[in-house]
Amino acid sequence: MKLLLLGSGGREHALAWKIAQSPKIEKLYIAPGNAGTREVGENVALKADDFEGIKKFVIDNGINMVVVGPEDPLVKGVYDFFKNDDALKQIPVIGPSKAGAVLEGSKEFAKGFMQRHNIPTAGYKSITAENLEEGLAFLETLEAPYVLKADGLCAGKGVLILPTLEEAKKELKEMLDGMFGNASATVVIEEFLSGIECSVFVLTDGKNYKILPEAKDYKRIGEGDKGLNTGGMGSVSPVPFADKNWMKKVEDRIIRPTVEGLAAEGIDYKGFIFFGLINVKGEPMVIEYNVRMGDPETESVMLRIKSDLVDLFEGVAAGNLDEKTLEIDPRSAVCVMLVSGGYPEAYKKGFTITGIEDAKAGGSIVFHAGTALKDDQTVTNGGRVIAVSSYGTDKEEALKTSFANASKIHFEKKYFRSDIGFDL
Ligand code: AMP
Ligand code: GLY
Repeated sequence: MKLLLLGSGGREHALAWKIAQSPKIEKLYIAPGNAGTREVGENVALKADDFEGIKKFVIDNGINMVVVGPEDPLVKGVYDFFKNDDALKQIPVIGPSKAGAVLEGSKEFAKGFMQRHNIPTAGYKSITAENLEEGLAFLETLEAPYVLKADGLCAGKGVLILPTLEEAKKELKEMLDGMFGNASATVVIEEFLSGIECSVFVLTDGKNYKILPEAKDYKRIGEGDKGLNTGGMGSVSPVPFADKNWMKKVEDRIIRPTVEGLAAEGIDYKGFIFFGLINVKGEPMVIEYNVRMGDPETESVMLRIKSDLVDLFEGVAAGNLDEKTLEIDPRSAVCVMLVSGGYPEAYKKGFTITGIEDAKAGGSIVFHAGTALKDDQTVTNGGRVIAVSSYGTDKEEALKTSFANASKIHFEKKYFRSDIGFDL
């Protein structure tokens, strides 16, 4: 099979690494990919949302399957683009339809969906400039801190958590006034939930599903979970509190009602669902849905999937995922993200990266996130630069390997958190 993977981050390198191991793969292309994905496939200079360019490439190269890494092409309707094109409609796209991608693309839709299907989540109210007064009144009924979410996609920046009622009211007005452009023309006000978070992933064909290994990610830039939010500084899988009992609650109350709810609402969904969960006194609740894998969770989750991922994708496409097996590696897997100094604020790119081979020799799997090639040298090309992933019999052993190998990779102003997994 010839498979085209869309995207360019650490998540896509980890997916590409896993896909390339499948005996079913004759040729793997990644569009646009990064300096790391070239090690496992061939990069194609196309943006993940250049649908016409992708169409031409798919036809010219006889592509048999397309796997979508990031949310952007899904929210823009890449699945529907294929379905509605006579030349493309036979080619499966692993990722939901545009209607399904709204689960991530609109917080208001996601909250309404959960309400309709009795899926546990924080109480909320959806506010626009028209019913601002209702929003202010709803805030008065809540206790601090206050959670405000821009309805639309904001590259992970659209959630504000405010300590006082005054600030919450002020920020609500500013969000509605265009703080995040059109994405915050509608704001979801939520009850604050207190607990520890966990990311749960499933692969679904729209009817059947397989629960992939769960993971915890570390979003803050600073040790002890302090400072600004980032795209994610590391991840750990499995998550100790997500034991059999807890995962049964997740499946019964959240996963199954979600998959059945999508089907009941006539939403075409063949792809990954990412459940951003929080453990509130032993009870799982949904913080958010994403319609793709998590990054940097994928950089540990892929290590724990023993089965052929492409075989599972074929089950998704054919609608017989129930006939496929998913075998999970019992070992722990972790990832530690090396980032550019200054990130998530301003940082410089273009610094030469050395030591990657030493880190691999030290037993880690090195996934590129923001890297590029410049005159045959691998250089930094983003905030999150490299994910150092490792196995261990437990998370301590895996983390020890990742930290040791993280120290072998060098670039100017490199930073990483040396406390990944500290709270588990
Ligand atoms: P989201 O983009 O919806 O995942 O929100 C970003 C982050 O804000 C989450 O990972 C949580 O840490 C936090 N958050 C979101 N909603 C809530 C909530 N209702 N209660 C507490 N924390 C929340
Ligand atoms: N790690 C969180 C995300 O991918 O959104």
